[in-house]
Amino acid sequence: EQNEEQYRPQVHFTPDSMWMNDPNGMVYYDGEYHLFYQYYPDSTIWGPMHWGHAISTDLVHWDRMPVALYPDSLGWIFSGSAVADVANTSGLGTSENPPLVAIYTYHNPELERSGSDTFQYQGVAYSIDKGRSWTKYEHNPVLPNPGIRDFRDPKVFWHEASESWMMILAVQNHVSIYSSPNLIDWTFESDFGEGIGAHGGVWECPDLFPMQAGDTTKWVMLVSINPGGPNGGSATQYFVGDFDGHVFTPEGIKTKWVDYGKDNYAGVTWSNVPGEDGRRLFMGWLNNWQYANQIPTGKWRGAMTVARELELVEVYNDYLLVSKPVDELQNLRGVEEQLNPETISGEMEIKKAFELPLEINLHFDTKNSSTITFAERFGIALSNENNEKLLIGYDNLNKLFFIDRTNAGWDSLNKDFAGIHYAPYINNDPILDMHLIIDRASVELFAKGGLVVMTEQFFPTQPFTSISLFSEHGEVSLSEGKIWPLGSIWN
Ligand code: FRU
Repeated sequence: EQNEEQYRPQVHFTPDSMWMNDPNGMVYYDGEYHLFYQYYPDSTIWGPMHWGHAISTDLVHWDRMPVALYPDSLGWIFSGSAVADVANTSGLGTSENPPLVAIYTYHNPELERSGSDTFQYQGVAYSIDKGRSWTKYEHNPVLPNPGIRDFRDPKVFWHEASESWMMILAVQNHVSIYSSPNLIDWTFESDFGEGIGAHGGVWECPDLFPMQAGDTTKWVMLVSINPGGPNGGSATQYFVGDFDGHVFTPEGIKTKWVDYGKDNYAGVTWSNVPGEDGRRLFMGWLNNWQYANQIPTGKWRGAMTVARELELVEVYNDYLLVSKPVDELQNLRGVEEQLNPETISGEMEIKKAFELPLEINLHFDTKNSSTITFAERFGIALSNENNEKLLIGYDNLNKLFFIDRTNAGWDSLNKDFAGIHYAPYINNDPILDMHLIIDRASVELFAKGGLVVMTEQFFPTQPFTSISLFSEHGEVSLSEGKIWPLGSIWN
């Protein structure tokens, strides 16, 4: 059934039906990756929030589980995180069977309606059966509201050096950091964010974690912002700096974005990931609040990005995030097809009679001497018999990657959906690589080894039936091209 719906993603998590937004409570425990998410089981429109739940052993295939957290007398269950309290610091489990602890925001709609400013506060729930059933802590809330309307989305992590739990919380136009010995009693440490970074909208869904860049350890802070993203609406910025257990000190002042496309929001990382220096694994909501409640998907609304591995690299005295689909996704690949290296001028069809999803890897050689006039724009296009077309490429005049969904189908309901969206990148390197995961209704572009990421949805009125490479006002040479069909995660 999930293979028959026109817009049903085949390699991305979706609920079987009804509304989904932010990923929540991502934690690895005992062989399983947990994904919780903002869920409204009674409608395909956002409403009273629950935590939906899914479990995976490979970050690719997901088992849909029953709803984990229902609204209660304290309010709806907004976004938050989960940790494995392996030392049972909370006392909510035992040392033999430590608890999973979820820390989330209660949003109280009655208080909000009454005109109060104190309608968001943090609560705790725990599970002692590997996340199958959850009990709310009996003395919630654990962090009451200090009189600020936007006070939400706690992301909790264990801070090795100070041997305490840390919470980073979105507070209106900044984040606040709190510490705790036991996940229950929280002490304010510091604020970060006023006067730095993007401020076109409210700050939401922060995360804070250490990463290795060569020999150096840096701390990376993710902060989602809505609106105010680089191409309009929702997006996630990040800061790189240091964290001493009390205060986050950023380096550099330029605003950086995890993803420049319009459809990657509220993403955070998994906690307790196994392995030496465990991988830093990320997932975002593949959507944008500008049109999230209107997209024409069907009996469900909302998908997640593929799980991605983040790395931190030093580039020109700056630290930048690199994103890649997790290696496990390659297990979905079918037979590899190779494209011949050649010079592209105008439009060249490379595929017809195919089904999405596909994974495509393209290397364009921008310095090839056989190129007489170098193209102004080049890339890859998907089209159908209705003359709808999705373009993904590089604009060499302006030095920008782009996704153009101006004429890719669904655009009538929302003026913010259609359009051409850009990501900056000065290409000093002869090879311009584009790695694409193209599902039935979304594309994820990982360019320059993952330094530039763009994630966007598309809704053609009929499935795309042709894929071509294009080069405008000049030529470009393709030095390498590979295509893999991807199997469905629902089979
Ligand atoms: C982000 C967000 C969060 C909030 C949740 C409510 O998309 O607005 O700040 O907790 O969604 O569903």
